[in-house]
Amino acid sequence: MSFSVLGTGLYVPEKIVTNDDLSTFLDTNDEWITQRVGIKQRHVCTNETAADLAIQAAKRALENSGVAADELDLIIGATVSGETVCPSIACYVQAGVGAKCPAFDVNAACSAFLFELETAAGFFARGFKKILVVGAERMSRIIDWKDRSTAVIFGDGAGAVVLGADETSEYESVLHVEGGDSVIKIPQHVGNSPFYENEAEAPYTQMAGQETFRFAVTSIVNDIHELLDKTGHTLDEVKWIVPHQANKRIIDAAAKRLKMSPEQAEKMYVNIDRYGNTSSASIPIALDELHREGKLQKGDLVLLTAFGGGLASGACLFNW
Ligand code: UT7
Repeated sequence: MSFSVLGTGLYVPEKIVTNDDLSTFLDTNDEWITQRVGIKQRHVCTNETAADLAIQAAKRALENSGVAADELDLIIGATVSGETVCPSIACYVQAGVGAKCPAFDVNAACSAFLFELETAAGFFARGFKKILVVGAERMSRIIDWKDRSTAVIFGDGAGAVVLGADETSEYESVLHVEGGDSVIKIPQHVGNSPFYENEAEAPYTQMAGQETFRFAVTSIVNDIHELLDKTGHTLDEVKWIVPHQANKRIIDAAAKRLKMSPEQAEKMYVNIDRYGNTSSASIPIALDELHREGKLQKGDLVLLTAFGGGLASGACLFNW
Protein backbone atom coordinates (compact mmCIF):
# COMPACT_ATOMS: atom_id res chain seq x y z
CA MET A 1 0.00 0.00 0.00
CA SER A 2 1.35 3.40 -0.99
CA PHE A 3 -0.04 6.92 -0.61
CA SER A 4 -1.00 10.03 -2.55
CA VAL A 5 -1.30 13.65 -1.45
CA LEU A 6 -4.74 14.85 -0.30
CA GLY A 7 -3.78 18.40 0.65
CA THR A 8 -0.95 20.80 1.45
CA GLY A 9 -0.33 23.90 3.56
CA LEU A 10 2.42 26.36 4.37
CA TYR A 11 2.81 29.07 6.94
CA VAL A 12 5.57 31.64 7.34
CA PRO A 13 5.85 34.42 9.92
CA GLU A 14 4.83 37.89 8.72
CA LYS A 15 8.17 39.60 9.22
CA ILE A 16 10.31 39.68 6.08
CA VAL A 17 14.03 40.35 6.42
CA THR A 18 15.78 41.42 3.20
CA ASN A 19 19.48 41.14 2.42
CA ASP A 20 19.72 44.91 2.82
CA ASP A 21 18.21 44.58 6.31
CA LEU A 22 20.96 42.09 7.21
CA SER A 23 23.67 44.40 5.91
CA THR A 24 22.67 47.00 8.52
CA PHE A 25 24.18 44.84 11.30
CA LEU A 26 26.33 42.21 9.50
CA ASP A 27 29.35 42.59 7.24
CA THR A 28 27.44 41.35 4.16
CA ASN A 29 25.57 42.72 1.18
CA ASP A 30 22.73 41.96 -1.21
CA GLU A 31 25.06 41.26 -4.13
CA TRP A 32 27.07 38.58 -2.28
CA ILE A 33 24.00 36.80 -0.90
CA THR A 34 22.15 36.93 -4.23
CA GLN A 35 25.10 35.66 -6.27
CA ARG A 36 26.54 33.08 -3.84
CA VAL A 37 23.29 31.68 -2.42
CA GLY A 38 20.33 33.00 -4.44
CA ILE A 39 18.38 34.42 -1.49
CA LYS A 40 16.70 37.86 -1.63
CA GLN A 41 14.63 37.66 1.55
CA ARG A 42 13.57 35.30 4.35
CA HIS A 43 10.71 35.26 6.89
CA VAL A 44 11.72 35.53 10.55
CA CYS A 45 9.68 34.93 13.71
CA THR A 46 9.08 37.84 16.05
CA ASN A 47 6.66 36.29 18.53
CA GLU A 48 5.73 32.99 16.83
CA THR A 49 7.21 29.68 17.96
CA ALA A 50 8.14 26.81 15.64
CA ALA A 51 5.07 25.01 17.02
CA ASP A 52 2.85 27.98 16.07
CA LEU A 53 4.12 27.80 12.49
CA ALA A 54 3.61 24.03 12.42
CA ILE A 55 0.03 24.27 13.67
CA GLN A 56 -0.92 26.93 11.11
CA ALA A 57 0.63 24.97 8.22
CA ALA A 58 -1.13 21.81 9.43
CA LYS A 59 -4.51 23.57 9.68
CA ARG A 60 -4.12 24.86 6.13
CA ALA A 61 -3.17 21.40 4.84
CA LEU A 62 -6.17 19.82 6.56
CA GLU A 63 -8.50 22.48 5.17
CA ASN A 64 -7.02 22.03 1.70
CA SER A 65 -7.45 18.24 1.90
CA GLY A 66 -10.99 18.24 3.25
CA VAL A 67 -9.81 15.79 5.93
CA ALA A 68 -11.03 16.46 9.49
CA ALA A 69 -8.47 16.40 12.30
CA ASP A 70 -10.23 13.48 14.00
CA GLU A 71 -9.88 11.39 10.82
CA LEU A 72 -6.07 11.43 11.11
CA ASP A 73 -4.41 8.14 12.09
CA LEU A 74 -0.98 9.64 12.71
CA ILE A 75 1.00 12.90 12.77
CA ILE A 76 4.71 12.84 11.92
CA GLY A 77 6.67 16.02 12.64
CA ALA A 78 10.21 17.27 12.15
CA THR A 79 12.21 20.21 13.45
CA VAL A 80 15.75 21.01 14.54
CA SER A 81 14.74 24.36 15.98
CA GLY A 82 11.67 23.73 18.12
CA GLU A 83 11.47 25.44 21.48
CA THR A 84 11.14 22.14 23.36
CA VAL A 85 12.73 18.73 22.98
CA CYS A 86 9.56 17.43 24.59
CA PRO A 87 6.74 17.78 23.64
CA SER A 88 7.71 17.06 20.05
CA ILE A 89 6.46 19.45 17.37
CA ALA A 90 4.05 16.71 16.24
CA CYS A 91 2.48 16.64 19.72
CA TYR A 92 1.94 20.42 19.59
CA VAL A 93 0.28 19.96 16.18
CA GLN A 94 -1.92 17.16 17.51
CA ALA A 95 -3.24 19.45 20.24
CA GLY A 96 -3.36 22.53 17.99
CA VAL A 97 -5.49 20.96 15.26
CA GLY A 98 -7.60 18.94 17.70
CA ALA A 99 -6.53 15.47 16.54
CA LYS A 100 -6.69 12.35 18.70
CA CYS A 101 -4.08 10.19 16.95
CA PRO A 102 -0.50 9.26 17.90
CA ALA A 103 2.15 11.86 17.06
CA PHE A 104 5.94 11.88 17.09
CA ASP A 105 8.95 13.56 15.46
CA VAL A 106 11.66 12.29 13.13
CA ASN A 107 15.06 14.02 13.34
CA ALA A 108 17.02 14.04 10.10
CA ALA A 109 17.71 17.81 9.90
CA CYS A 110 17.24 19.22 6.38
CA SER A 111 16.55 15.75 4.94
CA ALA A 112 13.78 15.09 7.45
CA PHE A 113 10.86 15.32 5.02
CA LEU A 114 12.27 12.34 3.09
CA PHE A 115 12.65 10.31 6.29
CA GLU A 116 9.13 11.35 7.36
CA LEU A 117 7.65 10.10 4.07
CA GLU A 118 9.52 6.82 4.44
CA THR A 119 8.13 6.47 7.96
CA ALA A 120 4.64 7.28 6.69
CA ALA A 121 5.02 4.65 3.96
CA GLY A 122 5.75 2.07 6.66
CA PHE A 123 2.58 3.02 8.55
CA PHE A 124 0.49 2.88 5.35
CA ALA A 125 1.85 -0.63 4.85
CA ARG A 126 0.44 -1.44 8.32
CA GLY A 127 -3.03 -0.24 7.29
CA PHE A 128 -3.04 3.41 8.38
CA LYS A 129 -5.33 5.50 6.14
CA LYS A 130 -4.58 9.19 6.72
CA ILE A 131 -1.30 10.71 7.91
CA LEU A 132 -0.30 14.35 8.43
CA VAL A 133 3.38 15.12 7.81
CA VAL A 134 4.83 18.45 9.01
CA GLY A 135 8.21 20.19 8.91
CA ALA A 136 8.54 23.42 10.91
CA GLU A 137 11.55 25.53 11.75
CA ARG A 138 12.45 28.64 13.70
CA MET A 139 16.03 28.60 12.43
CA SER A 140 16.38 32.20 13.65
CA ARG A 141 16.51 30.74 17.20
CA ILE A 142 19.50 28.50 16.53
CA ILE A 143 21.75 30.66 14.37
CA ASP A 144 24.36 33.05 15.69
CA TRP A 145 23.23 36.40 14.31
CA LYS A 146 26.83 37.62 14.53
CA ASP A 147 28.05 34.88 12.16
CA ARG A 148 27.54 36.03 8.55
CA SER A 149 28.40 32.60 7.14
CA THR A 150 25.21 31.09 8.59
CA ALA A 151 22.93 34.02 9.52
CA VAL A 152 22.31 35.02 5.91
CA ILE A 153 21.21 31.62 4.61
CA PHE A 154 18.44 30.41 6.92
CA GLY A 155 14.77 31.36 7.29
CA ASP A 156 11.73 30.41 9.36
CA GLY A 157 8.62 28.60 8.12
CA ALA A 158 6.52 25.46 8.09
CA GLY A 159 5.03 23.15 5.50
CA ALA A 160 2.57 20.27 5.84
CA VAL A 161 0.99 17.57 3.69
CA VAL A 162 -1.97 15.29 4.33
CA LEU A 163 -1.38 11.84 2.85
CA GLY A 164 -4.01 9.22 2.14
CA ALA A 165 -3.53 5.48 1.51
CA ASP A 166 -3.62 4.82 -2.24
CA GLU A 167 -2.92 1.41 -3.72
CA THR A 168 -2.70 2.84 -7.26
CA SER A 169 0.20 5.13 -6.37
CA GLU A 170 3.91 4.30 -6.63
CA TYR A 171 6.42 5.30 -3.93
CA GLU A 172 10.14 4.48 -3.95
CA SER A 173 13.07 6.00 -2.09
CA VAL A 174 16.76 5.92 -1.26
CA LEU A 175 18.10 7.15 2.09
CA HIS A 176 21.71 7.55 3.21
CA VAL A 177 23.68 8.68 6.26
CA GLU A 178 27.37 9.43 6.77
CA GLY A 179 27.25 9.89 10.54
CA GLY A 180 29.43 12.58 12.12
CA ASP A 181 29.40 16.16 13.40
CA SER A 182 32.47 17.65 11.77
CA VAL A 183 30.56 19.29 8.87
CA ILE A 184 27.22 20.33 10.41
CA LYS A 185 26.42 20.46 14.12
CA ILE A 186 23.74 22.13 16.25
CA PRO A 187 24.70 21.72 19.93
CA GLN A 188 21.83 21.22 22.37
CA HIS A 189 21.05 22.85 25.73
CA VAL A 190 24.20 23.34 27.79
CA GLY A 191 23.05 21.80 31.08
CA ASN A 192 24.35 22.53 34.56
CA SER A 193 25.48 19.15 35.79
CA PRO A 194 28.16 19.64 38.47
CA PHE A 195 29.65 16.29 37.36
CA TYR A 196 30.10 16.86 33.62
CA GLU A 197 33.68 17.82 32.78
CA ASN A 198 33.56 18.85 29.09
CA GLU A 199 33.33 22.47 28.02
CA ALA A 200 29.87 23.64 26.96
CA GLU A 201 29.31 24.75 23.35
CA ALA A 202 27.04 27.61 22.33
CA PRO A 203 23.73 26.21 21.02
CA TYR A 204 24.09 27.70 17.54
CA THR A 205 24.36 26.12 14.10
CA GLN A 206 27.91 25.29 13.05
CA MET A 207 28.48 24.51 9.39
CA ALA A 208 31.54 24.03 7.20
CA GLY A 209 30.01 25.72 4.15
CA GLN A 210 32.16 24.38 1.35
CA GLU A 211 32.21 20.80 2.63
CA THR A 212 28.45 20.93 3.00
CA PHE A 213 28.18 22.30 -0.53
CA ARG A 214 30.23 19.40 -1.92
CA PHE A 215 28.25 16.83 0.08
CA ALA A 216 25.01 18.39 -1.16
CA VAL A 217 25.84 18.29 -4.86
CA THR A 218 27.30 14.77 -4.68
CA SER A 219 24.30 13.49 -2.71
CA ILE A 220 21.72 14.95 -5.08
CA VAL A 221 23.50 13.46 -8.10
CA ASN A 222 24.15 10.02 -6.58
CA ASP A 223 20.74 9.73 -4.91
CA ILE A 224 18.85 10.66 -8.09
CA HIS A 225 20.92 8.22 -10.19
CA GLU A 226 20.30 5.46 -7.64
CA LEU A 227 16.57 6.21 -7.46
CA LEU A 228 16.13 6.25 -11.25
CA ASP A 229 18.11 2.98 -11.57
CA LYS A 230 15.95 1.42 -8.84
CA THR A 231 12.62 2.47 -10.36
CA GLY A 232 13.40 2.41 -14.08
CA HIS A 233 11.93 5.91 -14.42
CA THR A 234 13.58 8.73 -16.38
CA LEU A 235 13.72 12.44 -15.59
CA ASP A 236 11.54 13.06 -18.65
CA GLU A 237 8.70 11.20 -16.92
CA VAL A 238 8.96 13.37 -13.80
CA LYS A 239 6.69 16.43 -13.59
CA TRP A 240 8.63 18.29 -10.88
CA ILE A 241 11.95 17.78 -9.12
CA VAL A 242 11.81 19.45 -5.71
CA PRO A 243 15.25 19.78 -4.12
CA HIS A 244 15.88 20.96 -0.56
CA GLN A 245 16.38 24.72 -0.86
CA ALA A 246 19.84 25.39 0.59
CA ASN A 247 21.64 27.28 -2.16
CA LYS A 248 20.61 28.03 -5.76
CA ARG A 249 24.16 27.24 -6.85
CA ILE A 250 23.84 23.73 -5.35
CA ILE A 251 20.71 23.13 -7.43
CA ASP A 252 22.37 24.48 -10.60
CA ALA A 253 25.56 22.46 -10.03
CA ALA A 254 23.56 19.25 -9.48
CA ALA A 255 21.53 19.87 -12.66
CA LYS A 256 24.77 20.31 -14.58
CA ARG A 257 26.40 17.18 -13.10
CA LEU A 258 23.24 15.21 -13.92
CA LYS A 259 23.62 16.47 -17.52
CA MET A 260 20.02 17.68 -17.49
CA SER A 261 18.62 19.08 -20.71
CA PRO A 262 17.25 22.65 -20.44
CA GLU A 263 13.73 21.15 -20.28
CA GLN A 264 14.72 18.82 -17.41
CA ALA A 265 16.52 21.62 -15.53
CA GLU A 266 13.32 23.72 -15.80
CA LYS A 267 11.61 21.07 -13.66
CA MET A 268 13.90 21.86 -10.72
CA TYR A 269 11.67 23.94 -8.43
CA VAL A 270 13.35 26.95 -6.81
CA ASN A 271 11.88 29.31 -4.19
CA ILE A 272 14.95 29.92 -2.01
CA ASP A 273 14.96 33.56 -3.17
CA ARG A 274 11.82 34.19 -1.08
CA TYR A 275 12.31 31.93 1.98
CA GLY A 276 16.00 31.14 2.44
CA ASN A 277 16.86 27.69 3.80
CA THR A 278 14.01 26.53 6.04
CA SER A 279 15.56 23.09 6.72
CA SER A 280 12.87 20.42 7.22
CA ALA A 281 10.15 22.83 6.03
CA SER A 282 11.70 23.65 2.66
CA ILE A 283 10.30 20.74 0.61
CA PRO A 284 6.72 20.79 2.00
CA ILE A 285 6.64 24.60 1.53
CA ALA A 286 7.66 24.10 -2.12
CA LEU A 287 5.05 21.35 -2.57
CA ASP A 288 2.31 23.62 -1.23
CA GLU A 289 3.28 26.37 -3.69
CA LEU A 290 3.27 23.97 -6.63
CA HIS A 291 -0.04 22.45 -5.57
CA ARG A 292 -1.85 25.75 -4.99
CA GLU A 293 -0.58 27.16 -8.28
CA GLY A 294 -2.20 24.18 -10.03
CA LYS A 295 1.17 22.83 -11.19
CA LEU A 296 0.62 19.35 -9.74
CA GLN A 297 -2.27 17.09 -10.72
CA LYS A 298 -3.31 13.71 -9.34
CA GLY A 299 -0.99 11.00 -10.64
CA ASP A 300 1.90 13.32 -11.60
CA LEU A 301 5.31 11.83 -10.82
CA VAL A 302 7.22 13.98 -8.30
CA LEU A 303 10.89 13.56 -7.35
CA LEU A 304 12.16 14.97 -4.03
CA THR A 305 15.82 15.21 -3.04
CA ALA A 306 17.34 16.48 0.21
CA PHE A 307 20.61 16.58 2.16
CA GLY A 308 21.94 18.09 5.36
CA GLY A 309 23.01 17.51 8.95
CA GLY A 310 23.67 13.95 9.99
CA LEU A 311 25.09 13.93 7.41
CA ALA A 312 21.92 12.56 5.87
CA SER A 313 20.51 12.57 2.36
CA GLY A 314 17.75 10.97 0.38
CA ALA A 315 15.58 11.05 -2.71
CA CYS A 316 12.13 9.68 -3.44
CA LEU A 317 9.63 9.39 -6.25
CA PHE A 318 5.87 9.17 -5.88
CA ASN A 319 2.62 9.84 -7.70
CA TRP A 320 0.85 13.00 -6.54
O1 UT7 B 1 20.61 22.92 4.57
C1 UT7 B 1 21.74 22.39 5.19
C2 UT7 B 1 22.85 22.33 4.29
N1 UT7 B 1 23.49 23.63 4.09
C3 UT7 B 1 23.98 23.90 2.89
O2 UT7 B 1 23.78 23.18 1.95
C4 UT7 B 1 24.88 25.10 2.71
C5 UT7 B 1 26.02 24.73 1.79
N2 UT7 B 1 27.04 25.76 1.67
C6 UT7 B 1 26.79 26.91 1.01
O3 UT7 B 1 25.71 27.15 0.51
C7 UT7 B 1 27.95 27.89 0.85
O4 UT7 B 1 29.15 27.24 1.19
C8 UT7 B 1 27.78 29.17 1.71
C9 UT7 B 1 26.62 30.00 1.17
C10 UT7 B 1 27.54 28.83 3.16
C11 UT7 B 1 29.05 30.02 1.60
O5 UT7 B 1 29.32 30.28 0.22
P1 UT7 B 1 30.77 30.00 -0.37
O6 UT7 B 1 30.70 30.37 -1.79
O7 UT7 B 1 31.15 28.61 -0.03
O8 UT7 B 1 31.63 31.06 0.39
P2 UT7 B 1 32.97 30.84 1.25
O9 UT7 B 1 32.66 30.31 2.60
O10 UT7 B 1 33.98 30.13 0.41
O11 UT7 B 1 33.46 32.33 1.39
C12 UT7 B 1 33.89 33.09 0.23
C13 UT7 B 1 34.16 34.51 0.68
C14 UT7 B 1 35.04 34.60 1.92
O12 UT7 B 1 35.85 35.77 1.81
P3 UT7 B 1 37.38 35.64 1.34
O13 UT7 B 1 38.05 34.76 2.34
O14 UT7 B 1 37.32 35.04 -0.03
O15 UT7 B 1 37.83 37.06 1.37
C15 UT7 B 1 34.06 34.80 3.04
O16 UT7 B 1 34.62 35.44 4.15
O17 UT7 B 1 32.93 35.16 1.03
C16 UT7 B 1 33.02 35.66 2.36
N3 UT7 B 1 31.71 35.57 2.97
C17 UT7 B 1 30.80 36.56 2.89
N4 UT7 B 1 30.84 37.77 2.32
C18 UT7 B 1 29.73 38.52 2.41
C19 UT7 B 1 31.19 34.54 3.68
N5 UT7 B 1 29.93 34.84 4.05
C20 UT7 B 1 29.69 36.09 3.58
C21 UT7 B 1 28.55 36.92 3.66
N6 UT7 B 1 28.62 38.12 3.05
N7 UT7 B 1 27.42 36.55 4.28
